[in-house]
Formats: sequence, structure tokens, C-alpha cells
Amino acid sequence: MNILLIGSGGREHALGWALAQSPLTTKLYCAPGNAGIADVATCVPLSAADHGAVIRFCREHDIGFVVIGPEAPLVAGLADDLANAGIKHFGPSKAAAQLEGSKGFTKDLCREAGIPTAAYGRFKDAVAAKAHLARQKLPIVVKADGLAAGKGVVIAEAREEAEAAIDACFAGAFGAAGAEVVIEEFMTGEEASFFALCDGTHALALASAQDHKRVGDGDTGPNTGGMGAYSPAPIMTPAMTARTMDEIIRPTVAAMQARGTPFKGVLFAGLMITADGPKLIEYNARFGDPETQVLMLRLKSDLVTAMLATADGVLDKLDLRWRDDAALTVVMAARGYPGTPEKGTEIKGLAGAADVEGVQIFHAGTRRDGDRILADGGRVLNVTALGRTVAEAQARAYAAIAKIDWPGGFCRRDIGWRAVARERS
Ligand code: AMP
Ligand code: GLY
Repeated sequence: MNILLIGSGGREHALGWALAQSPLTTKLYCAPGNAGIADVATCVPLSAADHGAVIRFCREHDIGFVVIGPEAPLVAGLADDLANAGIKHFGPSKAAAQLEGSKGFTKDLCREAGIPTAAYGRFKDAVAAKAHLARQKLPIVVKADGLAAGKGVVIAEAREEAEAAIDACFAGAFGAAGAEVVIEEFMTGEEASFFALCDGTHALALASAQDHKRVGDGDTGPNTGGMGAYSPAPIMTPAMTARTMDEIIRPTVAAMQARGTPFKGVLFAGLMITADGPKLIEYNARFGDPETQVLMLRLKSDLVTAMLATADGVLDKLDLRWRDDAALTVVMAARGYPGTPEKGTEIKGLAGAADVEGVQIFHAGTRRDGDRILADGGRVLNVTALGRTVAEAQARAYAAIAKIDWPGGFCRRDIGWRAVARERS
């Protein structure tokens, strides 16, 4: 069948790379894609925000399946419009994507279903939010309710800082996303990224991963979309995975079904592994970026089959196979990220870097200019590698990075440190 993939990041390059390998794929299109995705798909200048144009494209190109990568089109209801047009797709409805689109929605659902998460309050004005804040312990977490591209979260050590975050939200720092504020208890523990395919009724756990959110070595500096990841996450033992499925994922799937808004797609749980076990930090209604890059390298089973089983509601019949190898990805970002990244700097040496054993380079934000590859975003490249251990995957990824000639870019030098330290001990 012909498949249309929506998105333009490293996550979509990794998904496209896996989709293109499927015997079920006749022709793969990507809208809008990037310079790397163009190696595995035909890139088309189609805006995901124009649902009518997407549907017309599907009809004209005999698209049998649409895979929606990012959250914005999900929250905007692209899946609903595809469903109404009778076009099979991977990705939840607008109502189900509220699990990512509204932090308050998810917190209320957790409370009703008894899902472990941080204690919280929801507020529509600063006076009420500050009154609640006055009664809380520090540090405290202040979040804009809606989609804020990872920037709407402040962990405040001091009350004034929390008050400033509340004021910034209501003053419009995050636009409509900040019309409501969620104030949460601060949880301590180790974070993990957990993914499960959900078909509305059944849930199937994928491999685990860990992300590095801070821009600087040693997990310092501002938060980013993710500077690197590895899989598996050693903290997600089989017992921890089973608890996460039983205490968090399955109750969520059941609650969404009971509300008449079944979740079909991939549910990405940001977890805090606390002394009391796994607790939900937040949900995303899509694959993680850059976690997907490591998951796709480890996935042995056919991705199209898995996504079709999700759309068709038959995940109970599916069994996925994973490589025993570890995978690790290092994000190369343009200078200035996560502030204002420099655009248009030239990247050389990619072919030589891709020749390093076990290495696969995914493009996150690039464009082609004749024979040249130019940086075209904040996160630009995901240098990804397999290895028998995280340490081996890490060594391979950094060996490839040493061959990339890109003065306009930078990366963290310590991706995977926690897992590598565990392997050594
Ligand atoms: P989020 O965008 O909700 O994933 O939050 C971004 C990051 O803030 C998370 O990855 C955590 O590191 C941190 N965070 C969010 N909520 C909490 C919380 N309640 N307790 C501790 N850390 C949190
Ligand atoms: N890596 C975290 C995210 O995709 O939101």
C-alpha cells in the first residue's frame, strides 16, 4: 500500500526509515519531510494544518495509510478528519489526544482512575493559583495546561519564582496554552520514557528508553526537546514494566474507552521511577523524539504491521521482537539551541560518518541546497548507533560524530552516562 507520513523531524526520519523497509509498503510519501527523509520517502510540500489538502492528496495518490508523527496535527483533529473521509491512519483522535493537549485533563483522569502521579491543582486565574501555592511545599512545579513545545514547565525552588511562572502563563507567555495553569507536587526519582501501542482496547508495551532533556553535559542548563536517548532503559526492569502497564497504561486505556474516546496510537508516558514505584509525569499522544530513533534501530518486527494492528484494534494478536543490542542516539543541534538556533550553516562529512559500523544518521532539521546539506532547525542531526552494550553504541555514535564537519553545530559529550556507569559497576 501507499503510505503518507506526516512530519519533518528526526522522529519521522526514523519512522520513515522503518516504514520504507516493510514489505507492505509500495510507495512512501512524507509531508513535508527533510533532506534526510528524502532518502527513504518522496517528500511533498503539503501542510498538515490543511486537512482538506491532506485528504485530497490521499485520494489522488491512492494512500492506504497515514502515519501522523507530531502532536500538533493530532490535537488539531487530523485523525478525526481522516476517519470521516474513510482513510485509515495511525494516531489518536482529537478527543483522545487531550492526554497530551491538556495536562489538567490528564491529571483529572489520573485522579478518577487512581493512576499514580504528582498531587496537583488546576487554576484559571492567578489569585487562586497563588493562594494554592502558598499552602504547598517547595520545590514546586508550575505548568501551562496546553501544548507549549516543552517550554511550559517551571520547577521553582522559591515561591517568588513559582509566582513569576504563574504570572507569565496568565500574561500569555505560552499563548492559549497558558490560559489554565497546573501546579504540581515535585517528584524525585529517575525518569524513563515508556511507550505502548494502544488500539482503544488493548495495550502492547514497546521497548523502554531514557532521554537527556537538559542542553548541557552532566544534565545542566535549560530544558530542550531532548539531546540524546538510549534504549533499553536499565531502570525499566520487567517488573517495573509490568507495574507501569498495570498501574498506569491499562487503567488509562480503560478510562478513555469508558469515556467514549478510545485512545488509538502510541501512548508515550513520561515516568518518574520513585521510591514508591512508577508515577506518571505526563502523557504524549505520539512517539518521542529522539527516543523513536533508538527504538526503530532495535525493532526487528515490521512497523507497518504493528501500526495497522493498532488502527484495526487487533493488538492482542501481535507480538513484537526487539534486538538484544542497545541503541543510543546523540542529537547534534545548531549553535544557539534551545534559544534561537543559527540556520543555514553547512554540514559536511555525513557519508563518512554513516560508514561507522552500526551507525544510522537521522536528519531532524536539514534542507538540501544543490549538493549541500544545510542546518534548518534547532535539533539538526540524530547520530544513532547499535552496540552490544550502551557503551559500545555510545563509542560508535561519537566516532561517527568525529567525522562530521559542522562548525555551526554542537552536541552533548555524555549521552548515556547513567547506563554506561551502570554497565561498568
Ligand atoms: P513535562 O513537559 O511535563 O514532561 O516536564 C518536563 C520535565 O520537567 C520532565 O521531564 C521532568 O524532568 C520535569 N517535571 C515535570 N513535572 C515534574 C514533577 N511533578 N516533579 C518533578 N519533575 C517534573
Ligand atoms: N523526548 C521527549 C519528547 O519527545 O517529548
